[in-house]
Amino acid sequence: MLLQAEHISKIYGSGENRVEALKDVSLTVDRGEMLAVMGKSGSGKSTLLHIVGGVDSPNEGSVIFDGELVNPSNEKALAAYRRRKAGFVFQDFKLLLELTVWDNLLLPLTLDRRKPEMEYAEHILSLLGLEEKRNKHPEELSGGQKQRVAIGRAIIHNPDIILCDEPTGQLDSDTEGEILEIFDKLHEQKKTIIIVTHDNKVANRCERTITLSDGKILEK
Ligand SMILES: Nc1ncnc2c1ncn2[C@@H]1O[C@H](COP(=O)(O)OP(=O)(O)OP(=O)(O)O)[C@@H](O)[C@H]1O
Ligand SMILES: [Mg+2]
Repeated sequence: MLLQAEHISKIYGSGENRVEALKDVSLTVDRGEMLAVMGKSGSGKSTLLHIVGGVDSPNEGSVIFDGELVNPSNEKALAAYRRRKAGFVFQDFKLLLELTVWDNLLLPLTLDRRKPEMEYAEHILSLLGLEEKRNKHPEELSGGQKQRVAIGRAIIHNPDIILCDEPTGQLDSDTEGEILEIFDKLHEQKKTIIIVTHDNKVANRCERTITLSDGKILEK
């Protein structure tokens, strides 16, 4: 087992704005597994992904990664977890507009003051079909191209787990097929991948699907 989330609860806001986004959610993910997380809009999918990735902290419960507690009160360890162990593909890309494609791709390494292995970075760039875009800025790219940069950035530092929020949500079906092939390749390389998706095509590529409903995992 690589990841264990235990009795996770997450509350946003207070008073009449109080939202219980996750209600006592427990989940384990094995090393090398490719897991789909489905559910309606607002069911808590992104919240769950952010919590297991150490981007957001739960109100209750704990996340254990590779036998170690992801401790919300240790910001330094949390930042190291986010930077080294996890790779994120966010729903809204979160590319840095002032950086080129190449610099966005290398960002996890730059932030960590690590020297990129140029050959591997070139390989990722060509895998994603972005060679000709390397010096462009995000605003010059299509949605699919931005998403590909985001995927490259999520895997450039060889993370233990790749966390993806609607990675093909804004893509046409050809581009979606290409992106799914990239995920298949990562899966073949025994990467652990969690993909939030509305799309059955994406979920069908995964070994297992969990469905969230109103902050809880639906029992099958
Ligand atoms: N930062 C926030 N502040 C307040 N409420 C939030 C925040 N983030 C999420 N929520 C609320 O928590 C609930 C779960 O949101 P979440 O974004 O996890 O859902 P989701 O399943 O990812 O939805 P979608 O499919 O639309 O992306 C929703 O009711 C949402 O409005
Ligand atoms: Mg979401």
